[in-house]
Amino acid sequence: MATIRPMLLPLGLMALLAASSAAVAQLEIGFYSKTCPQVEEIVREEMVKIIAAAPSLAGPLLRLHFHDCFVNGCDASVLLDSTKHNVAEKDAKPNKSLRGFGSVERVKAKLEAACPGVVSCADVLTLMSRDAVVLAKGPNWPVALGRRDGRASSAMEASDELPPAYGDIPLLVRIFASKGLNLKDLVVLSGAHTLGTAHCPSYADRLYNATGGGASLDPSLDSEYADKMRLKCKSLNDGSMLSEMDPGSYKTFDTSYYGHVAKRRGLFRSDAALLTDATTRDYVQRVATGKFDAEFFKDFSESMIKITPPLIKMGNVGVLTGAEGEIRKKCYVLN
Ligand code: HEM
Repeated sequence: MATIRPMLLPLGLMALLAASSAAVAQLEIGFYSKTCPQVEEIVREEMVKIIAAAPSLAGPLLRLHFHDCFVNGCDASVLLDSTKHNVAEKDAKPNKSLRGFGSVERVKAKLEAACPGVVSCADVLTLMSRDAVVLAKGPNWPVALGRRDGRASSAMEASDELPPAYGDIPLLVRIFASKGLNLKDLVVLSGAHTLGTAHCPSYADRLYNATGGGASLDPSLDSEYADKMRLKCKSLNDGSMLSEMDPGSYKTFDTSYYGHVAKRRGLFRSDAALLTDATTRDYVQRVATGKFDAEFFKDFSESMIKITPPLIKMGNVGVLTGAEGEIRKKCYVLN
């Protein structure tokens, strides 16, 4: 059997893995048990109200956490506003469609009232995204806490680090690997597209300009489905229209996303790409049968958070701990 010798790994990746393992070791279940024991109740209580008022916010809150973790680690850098001297992640092109910032501030304000200066915005967002999934009828998982908030946020970095909708398997694998995440994490976490909506420009090229040479349909897209999508997305520049990414159940966390992808009805090229690799295709087709919901729920929980070191999962990528960073009072501005 092939073994991976550390000396064969690129230096950058080794440094990332070493740093991440050390940081994860300091995240703990019950981290706030003495300083803010009611933290999870407060977050859950507010999330119940937020999702009851706006069920479509579950997806955006989960996506916020993903976009936070993939750029500069899970350090709430995505929540910072731009300043006179800095264009922040929030204002990067792929982040223009993020939503839910106001809800994070609302939950953070509740926590500041109960336990001032104690709970980081990075932990608030991590808990909110878990609760968003639970309230959308998805799985629950324990969250190790103790993340600290970063002091840097760069739009350029966000544009460079986030996976693009046109990503094929080699590109997506490379981006996920740069965060310490593997091929299974890619196919499992893509299942988050069971929730939420997308703007027409995120997939219009598949309908109108698949080969770059004018009117052409992406052959990897089911043509009947494409006809329906064209009614919602009328041209390459139709910016305002929204489409459900998992039509029929976009507010419910379930496995029907994989059913759509298996039928060549995944909305983005990155979704369709899951059928081009044997491992990810097997996973999609297996879960698409609807017989392995429990397995997908378990896989999703594990790809979101690993509570035992040294494995890195999405909620643990590049976290700051101990005396690093700060505990912001308001999530949109540095202290
Ligand atoms: C595999 C690479 C991924 C790519 C290329 C990708 C790309 C996208 C794009 C282009 C959108 C639509 C944006 C818009 O037009 O408004 C979107 C939406 C969304 N993504 Fe992903 N994504 C990926 C992975 C993930 C992961 C790992 C998660 C979470 C774990 C996630 C969660 C979501 C959610 C929930 C939405 C819907 C947001 C809403 O309703 O506003 N995505 N994604």
